[in-house]
Amino acid sequence: MRALLRNVGLPRNSKIGIGKIWPAPEGARRAKAFEIYRFDPDRHEGPRIDTYHVDLDECGPMVLDVLFFIKNRIDSTLVFRRSCGEGVCGSCSMNIDGTNTIACTKPISDIKGAVRIYPLPHLPVIKDLVPDMTDFFAQYASIEPWLKTKSPTPEKEWRQSPEERHQLDGLYECILCACCTTGCPSYWWNGTRFLGPATLLHAHRWILDSRDEATGERLDEIEDSFRLYRCHTILNCAQACPKNLNPGEAIAEIRRLLVQRLSP
Ligand code: SF4
Ligand code: SF4
Ligand code: FES
Repeated sequence: MRALLRNVGLPRNSKIGIGKIWPAPEGARRAKAFEIYRFDPDRHEGPRIDTYHVDLDECGPMVLDVLFFIKNRIDSTLVFRRSCGEGVCGSCSMNIDGTNTIACTKPISDIKGAVRIYPLPHLPVIKDLVPDMTDFFAQYASIEPWLKTKSPTPEKEWRQSPEERHQLDGLYECILCACCTTGCPSYWWNGTRFLGPATLLHAHRWILDSRDEATGERLDEIEDSFRLYRCHTILNCAQACPKNLNPGEAIAEIRRLLVQRLSP
């Protein structure tokens, strides 16, 4: 029994240790603690949580502003991804205060007490807050997210009526931040075979596109007990989406279309 218990638990190098604590600057009027996950594969040691006390009067209002403040003014070794700073590129996604979201549009004022910042869950960590998104983007590429046509190419453009265009609302806005996919319990357990909510939302976007002429092939490709049907409609994905999209609903729509094409 004792031997069995010894084998239960996390591997030694996955336990999170207590890291460095950076005190608030003297005279800080609105000091707040930011507990940030740190991991450097070159140090050959486990991850740790560093705590930075930042005077909120010194930096901007969003979590990404604090990360920049820390990197520029306190600890230049902190690593994170970002690009647009405007909620458009999806690269600053991370787990903030227990929820997957994008740091550039997450107000610090939303969070009471210390702010805990971790990388997106269930992805290998490259360094600090930067996860390895290789599989996520490979899955996205696997649905061939581009217009596929068989008709002769029109002289000017592939036309679409305003109504047909509106069908893509709620789908085209996805910024591929992966907050939904990495918050999906089914994806945690079947991540290599279940396509996950973000990729399936995009699959639905191309299935619905009035100009696309590969709808049948797209449905064939996706109709699979793992690729599609591992979604159990738990809807964590919709709660996590910083763009207020509903991937769970898109998945349900794909299922409906599959049933519909069976009916004469
Ligand atoms: S609805 Fe489906 S895709 Fe969304 S979190 Fe639940 S299982 Fe995952
Ligand atoms: S559906 Fe929402 S949460 Fe998922 S990748 Fe797109 S923008 Fe991010
Ligand atoms: S930096 Fe582009 S979405 Fe946050």
